[in-house]
Amino acid sequence: MRMYDILIKKRNGGALSDAEIRFLVKGFTEGRIPDYQMASFLMAVWFRGMTKEETVSLTLAMAESGGKLDLSGIKGIKVDKHSTGGVGDKTTLIIGPILASLQVPVAKMSGRGLGHTGGTIDKLESIPGFCTSIATDVFIRNVNQIHFALAGQTADLAPADKKIYALRDVTGTVDSDALIASSIMSKKIASGADAIVLDVKCGTGGFMKTPAEAERLAELMVEIGRLAGRKTVAVISDMNEPLGRMVGNSLEVVEAVEILSGAGDGRLRELCIQLAAEMLLLSGRLGGEEEKDQRKQAVDMVTDAIVSRRALHKFAEFVEAQGGDPDYIRNPDRFEKASYVVPVPAVKSGRLTACDAEEVGMTSLILGAGRSRKDEAVDFSAGIELRKKLGDTVQEGETMAYLYTNRKDVIPEAISRFQKAYTIENREFEPEKVIKKIIS
Ligand code: URA
Repeated sequence: MRMYDILIKKRNGGALSDAEIRFLVKGFTEGRIPDYQMASFLMAVWFRGMTKEETVSLTLAMAESGGKLDLSGIKGIKVDKHSTGGVGDKTTLIIGPILASLQVPVAKMSGRGLGHTGGTIDKLESIPGFCTSIATDVFIRNVNQIHFALAGQTADLAPADKKIYALRDVTGTVDSDALIASSIMSKKIASGADAIVLDVKCGTGGFMKTPAEAERLAELMVEIGRLAGRKTVAVISDMNEPLGRMVGNSLEVVEAVEILSGAGDGRLRELCIQLAAEMLLLSGRLGGEEEKDQRKQAVDMVTDAIVSRRALHKFAEFVEAQGGDPDYIRNPDRFEKASYVVPVPAVKSGRLTACDAEEVGMTSLILGAGRSRKDEAVDFSAGIELRKKLGDTVQEGETMAYLYTNRKDVIPEAISRFQKAYTIENREFEPEKVIKKIIS
């Protein structure tokens, strides 16, 4: 087999066989196929697309390109959740404890934040002592004992995806449905998930900007999951403004505690309950009723886990099991505050009718909460507290948000960026529903 022939076949719109796709993924991962040939392949895929069968072959070849996490020591069906990335997305911090309190095993691999989107690992590391680089045997023991463990992605998890993604990033080939879907699903499959719930964000702060794009990607990933033998459900959720009221690492932990205490932002709570209910359904723990009744039962059980505070206690238990100080969960006032807490005044009176959520994420990044390069450190106390959300009215000069930072010099730019991220108009406006569609 020759890479040259594979390139010509794809360039001409042909469908590659499983053997051809495995040959190119293995060859590239092991350094036999050079970057220029892989770059040419990626561009051909960008123009020609891939069939569902080709996309499944690519997914499985990437999933098998490194060491797979052996989670066979964990009892029960392991359900994983993946978010395509957004601003203020702290759902894992809420859903993990809920499911663990219902005895559903959650063995989670998460990433760090990059660009305008935050990462769960950074959020959890804002809790003093919390450690995400735990040995596999400790990870498995914690899942079996307390039903929740979370670790950073190991270097050898789907290394083909890492290498291919780096090339896509510099060759204008990131935004291809087949390449995005196989990239995401390969990591989920390699990390040992039996069933997968995808949270596909749609809107100004998401990877997919329009409902049509989000739906197309969601349907493709659900189909890949099915063909790869993993039950997969996708929830398409709104990302036309940050999720919840807090953006930033320790600020988002505090908000997660608020939701688990039965309070907090309604849209964030609604999305977490739905995602957790979908995961509970896939875990196979509910009895043989009709699907509609099962979904209601799942929502009731998840809601009860919050109301009873069992999930909140589970969060503290999980934090302690990974070396963190659980007192920060019981008493979130203990988190260190940023030196500067700066109000952002509204530039005029009216109603908030649009938000460039990516810009809000970028504002949080320059305040110190995120990183623009992989090796940058983050400031755990930096971020944004939103006082107004889409659909709310404001008076000129009224505080729309508070910026938290330790960098005095960035404050004027951050205020200006934040103000420009919002559109204020004098008209009626209803924000979109937080859950747009569920695809199963
Ligand atoms: N997230 C991923 O992991 N891969 C992509 O290609 C896009 C988003």
